[in-house]
Amino acid sequence: MNILILGSGGRECTLAWKLAQSPKCGDLFIAPGNAGTIDFGTNLELNPNDFDDLKEAVLRHCIEMVIVGPEDPLVNGIHDYFLEDSDLKNIPVIGPQKYAAQLEGSKEFAKEFMYRHDIPTAQYKSFTLENLQEGFDFLETLNAPYVLKADGLAAGKGVLILDDLQEAKKELEEMLGQQKFGAASSKVVIEEFLDGIEMSSFVLTDSENYVILPNAKDYKRIGEGDKGLNTGGMGAISPVPFADDEFLSKVEKRVIIPTIDGLKKDKISYVGFIFIGLIRVNNEPYVIEYNVRMGDPETEVVIPRIQSDLVDLFEATAAKKLNNFKLDIDPRSATTVMMVSGGYPEAYGKGMEITGLENVKDSIVFHAGTKLSDNKIITSGGRVLAVTSYGEDFKRALEQSYKNIGQIHFDKMNFRTDIGFDL
Ligand code: AMP
Ligand code: GLY
Repeated sequence: MNILILGSGGRECTLAWKLAQSPKCGDLFIAPGNAGTIDFGTNLELNPNDFDDLKEAVLRHCIEMVIVGPEDPLVNGIHDYFLEDSDLKNIPVIGPQKYAAQLEGSKEFAKEFMYRHDIPTAQYKSFTLENLQEGFDFLETLNAPYVLKADGLAAGKGVLILDDLQEAKKELEEMLGQQKFGAASSKVVIEEFLDGIEMSSFVLTDSENYVILPNAKDYKRIGEGDKGLNTGGMGAISPVPFADDEFLSKVEKRVIIPTIDGLKKDKISYVGFIFIGLIRVNNEPYVIEYNVRMGDPETEVVIPRIQSDLVDLFEATAAKKLNNFKLDIDPRSATTVMMVSGGYPEAYGKGMEITGLENVKDSIVFHAGTKLSDNKIITSGGRVLAVTSYGEDFKRALEQSYKNIGQIHFDKMNFRTDIGFDL
């Protein structure tokens, strides 16, 4: 089977690595891919949001399945585009249609879905410029800290958590009145603050059945001890040590099953990954957010723990036969540490040569922001490499990742030395 992966990060490199191991994988293409995905398939210089160009490539390369990595092609309706095109409609797309992608594309849509189906989540109200004053009044009823969320996609920057009421009011006014996050903040969700520890569950559904993938925890802040600006993610661990069987069974009963049933009740056909961001409060799971794709860098620890053939898993998804699929999971822990470019997540340099990759032993280096230039591997993004290792427990796996990071070099490289510090 010829397969196309859309995206260019560590997540897509990991999917390519795993798909290429399958005897069923024919020609593998990654659009646009990076310097790491070249080891597993052919990179296509295409924009995942340019659907007409993708169509042409899919037909030319006889592609028989499309795996969508990032959220924006989903929110922009790539799956709908395939279903509506007579040449493409029989080619399975792993990733939900545009309507369902609002679970990630609109915070309000996601909150309404959770309320409608009794899925535990923080109390909230949403506001636009027209009812700004009501927003101020609602803030007065809450205790600090105040959680303000831009309704739309804001590249992970649209959530503000503020200790001071006056500051929260000022930010609300800037989000709504001055469109601080562009159109994404023309509506703002204000939420009750939940105090707990976060982790994520990953589910793959064929719209009827689901399988639960390994869970994971990521580290979003740039600085040690979870300080500083938010990033796409600086490292991840799977499984999450505090998520014992009792807690995971609550997650399945109270969150996963109501989510899958809720989609069915709402007649929302959903084929693809559901990434459920959870927070544990008094040993109860609450949903912080849904994403309609896999996480990055969570994929770099979740997928390596899946022993089953990934082409088989996606074929079962496309055929709506996940009920018969037995997922084999590696009992070992997996960890990944992101090597980023100095300055990230603010301004950072690009084009630095990466050396020492050939000295890495017993870790897997998944490429994120890299590209090939004159036969050299150079940096091309903020998050550059994800160094993944296995271990009997996460501490041993981490030791291995850190040992191998010591072999790799690029100018101004940065990474967190304390992944897993809170566990
Ligand atoms: P989100 O984009 O909705 O996942 O929010 C980004 C981050 O903000 C989450 O990963 C949490 O760390 C934090 N957060 C979001 N909502 C809440 C909440 N209601 N209570 C506490 N922290 C939150
Ligand atoms: N690592 C968080 C995300 O992928 O959204």
